[in-house]
Amino acid sequence: MYDKQPLPRVQDVMTRDVISIAPDLTVRQAKDLMRDKGISGMPVVDRENALLGVISVADIIQAMENNNLNAFVSEVMTVNPIFLHEQDTVGYALQACRRYKYGRFPVIDEQAKVVGVLTVGDIVTRLAQLLRIDQVDEPDEIKEPKDFTTRIYECSIQSMNFDLAGLAASNIKKMLTGLGLKGTTVRRAAIAAYDAEMNVVIHAYEGKLSAKVTPHDITITVEDSGPGIKDVSLAMQPGYSTASDRIREMGFGAGMGLPNIKKSADEFTIESTPKGTTLVIKIFID
Ligand SMILES: Nc1ncnc2c1ncn2[C@@H]1O[C@H](COP(=O)(O)OP(=O)(O)OP(=O)(O)O)[C@@H](O)[C@H]1O
Ligand SMILES: [Mg+2]
Repeated sequence: MYDKQPLPRVQDVMTRDVISIAPDLTVRQAKDLMRDKGISGMPVVDRENALLGVISVADIIQAMENNNLNAFVSEVMTVNPIFLHEQDTVGYALQACRRYKYGRFPVIDEQAKVVGVLTVGDIVTRLAQLLRIDQVDEPDEIKEPKDFTTRIYECSIQSMNFDLAGLAASNIKKMLTGLGLKGTTVRRAAIAAYDAEMNVVIHAYEGKLSAKVTPHDITITVEDSGPGIKDVSLAMQPGYSTASDRIREMGFGAGMGLPNIKKSADEFTIESTPKGTTLVIKIFID
């Protein structure tokens, strides 16, 4: 039996483009950086990117009141800040948000290097994406041997049409649930289909999703007519995204779609030229 529905981890939802500051810069420089970037706090790191503290708008206001804008960041930052590990679950992170009432946590890796920042907004964004394709409730027990004939589903995908976005993934989910497949299998297929579909909506001109379901496996093929992905291995990296600010405001652009598709699939291929991109996602039915 093969079960892949991992708990979402901090590393799946955090922001990887970390804006941080060195301890030997001045509070004035921190203030200007935060204003330019439109952020309300940031980690303070050493040359090796190890976490030393955090500095927030509150620290800066305090320094202004004390006429202390020329002080070093290290003098006004919060030392021993609360942080998260990239392997922590999102549930744990939410508890930390509630308990400490901070809006933003530095995330560190096993070497205590800062690799991300997590805000409540990051969590909400990602969960909202996943919930949209998670509307059908299905029992999670393993059903008896599958005896259905091969099913085919096809749906066209329109670029930038957010009214229809997610429809193909949602229909696949309903079909698989109706065939009596296990909840974890259905969810993996739905998540992969949703992220592939959304990539066409957001990044491509137009496309088509087709799904073939046999008693042994599910094959989801998503093809589009361009503009293609310049560097596929870069696009596959978690956190890489070319999404515009407008798209990010809508809750997309975390750069987690392709990595999630790969994680959800038992077999995955992606081919891309300027004429278009084709993803083939295979999930075994056990
Ligand atoms: N079908 C596609 N056509 C053209 N470019 C694509 C396509 N799919 C992905 N890309 C490119 O690959 C990048 C990474 O895709 P990925 O799905 O991992 O992240 P994202 O769509 O930017 O964000 P998220 O999926 O987390 O909302 C995209 O930002 C885009 O540049
Ligand atoms: Mg995507």
